[in-house]
Amino acid sequence: MWVVIDAGTRTVKFCVFPTHSLKEYAEHAVDISQYTPKEGWLEQDPMEILDGIYQCINVVAKKLNVSDIVTIGITNQRETTIVWDKTTGEPLHNAIVWSDIRANDTVNQILAKLPDNNKNHFKSLCGLPVSPYFSAFKLKWLRDNVKQVKKACKARKCIFGTVDSWIVWNLTGGVNGGLHITDVTNASRTFLMNIDTLYWDPVLLYTFHIPSSLLPEIRSSSEIYGKIKNGTVLDGIPISGILGNQQSALVGQHCFKVGQAKNTYRSGCFLLYNTGTLRVQSSHGLVTTVAYQLGNSPPIYALEGSVAVAGAAMNWLRDNMGFINNVQEDTESLAKEVFNTGDVYFVPAFKGLYAPYWRQDARGIICGVTAFTTKKHIIRAALEAVCFQTRDILEAMNKDCGIPVAKLHVDGKMTTNNLLMQLQADIGGIPVFRAQSQDVTALGVAIIAGNAAGIDVWNISDAHQDSVPSDTFLPTTTDDERDARYTKWKMAVQRSLGWATT
Ligand code: G3P
Repeated sequence: MWVVIDAGTRTVKFCVFPTHSLKEYAEHAVDISQYTPKEGWLEQDPMEILDGIYQCINVVAKKLNVSDIVTIGITNQRETTIVWDKTTGEPLHNAIVWSDIRANDTVNQILAKLPDNNKNHFKSLCGLPVSPYFSAFKLKWLRDNVKQVKKACKARKCIFGTVDSWIVWNLTGGVNGGLHITDVTNASRTFLMNIDTLYWDPVLLYTFHIPSSLLPEIRSSSEIYGKIKNGTVLDGIPISGILGNQQSALVGQHCFKVGQAKNTYRSGCFLLYNTGTLRVQSSHGLVTTVAYQLGNSPPIYALEGSVAVAGAAMNWLRDNMGFINNVQEDTESLAKEVFNTGDVYFVPAFKGLYAPYWRQDARGIICGVTAFTTKKHIIRAALEAVCFQTRDILEAMNKDCGIPVAKLHVDGKMTTNNLLMQLQADIGGIPVFRAQSQDVTALGVAIIAGNAAGIDVWNISDAHQDSVPSDTFLPTTTDDERDARYTKWKMAVQRSLGWATT
């Protein structure tokens, strides 16, 4: 058997795969505390992430024979930024989570120095627009604002990593020689890696004043990096795969061919389109990212549309508005009680908008409200917002690639909502294929790690080369209906822009 550590934003999980099947057969998950010290900020305790992993190890060790584990893969929330003291192993600050917008000012400082304040100035180097989403802005904020970090940097004791690096360093020995590495997919989200050379880029390092000694070594996504050495029952097991979680879902959905795309609906939603060995530079607000790299093979690229708020809007309806008790069940049953939103549109730009707008000055807006509007209309509008944001991304992808996305493979917890799936097909105007297992994230890195460990993952009997087993939702609306509603959505988005003074 082989094992995946899935360190997402809300939970860390251990998923076990039997050697002759790609069907996960056991897992254990531990929730991770979320800290919001200020509006727009989101932190986690890096030690709690590790602790969650150790808890999983203990549970799995009780149930299974760990000596049967041949290899381990790691998939993780991306961009989340951790700095620690390499001599003590102590984190120098809480992890700054990907959706945290404290680096807005850092973004503004950098933009102010660029010709025409052009947020796409560095896109040809790293594939990304200037945004607080990416790790380099968070890292600069930490260096500029946190005394211990400044001090540790001066003393050359500070090192940086995304969640994958933090886990690998600790599992492979920590202060006693832990490996300080990351993989190309995670590195491609830092704003520091050159998207062509796959090395840290000197211009970007200079821009952020980041010495390369702070950074992990960039490795492929699929190779034997080293063995576990942390005094647990897993000692001696190799780690052979690392993928950012959205790239892992792309692989888990078997989107190996150019033109195949998947969308994962969790707290945010992330649509990735496989562009093969071709690095497509978006002119319509998407990012270029590495999808995966198998050992020394050329990297496979993807275009990505990242949406900051999808399921998080449902949590807001529950926690802040008290409209629902249970996100999964109530959003579907209540939204179904009305035939439409009554012309209400909800743009959940709580912390600005990511792709394709990249506007940190956007804020949430609900418009079209009348005396007849009920919470059911607003819940339905929140579901539609997820679909309209996905349509925004699809439109951008079609323009960038020239070949329209013909179908969408979807996964993630929110996809259990049948109404959401039908709305997605109706608003996007393309068939939606829902993976029968909502969680294909762990599967992706299982394939990648198994590949490097010598498991014949490509010929396992239940491997499906083209797609995973899925349910289909077909569009039921006409082009005219779709386009009329989409025009209204765009009007609502326009109204949300420029609301915040960042
Ligand atoms: O880029 C952010 C992404 O990796 C988020 O992960 O765990 O919130 O779906 P998650």
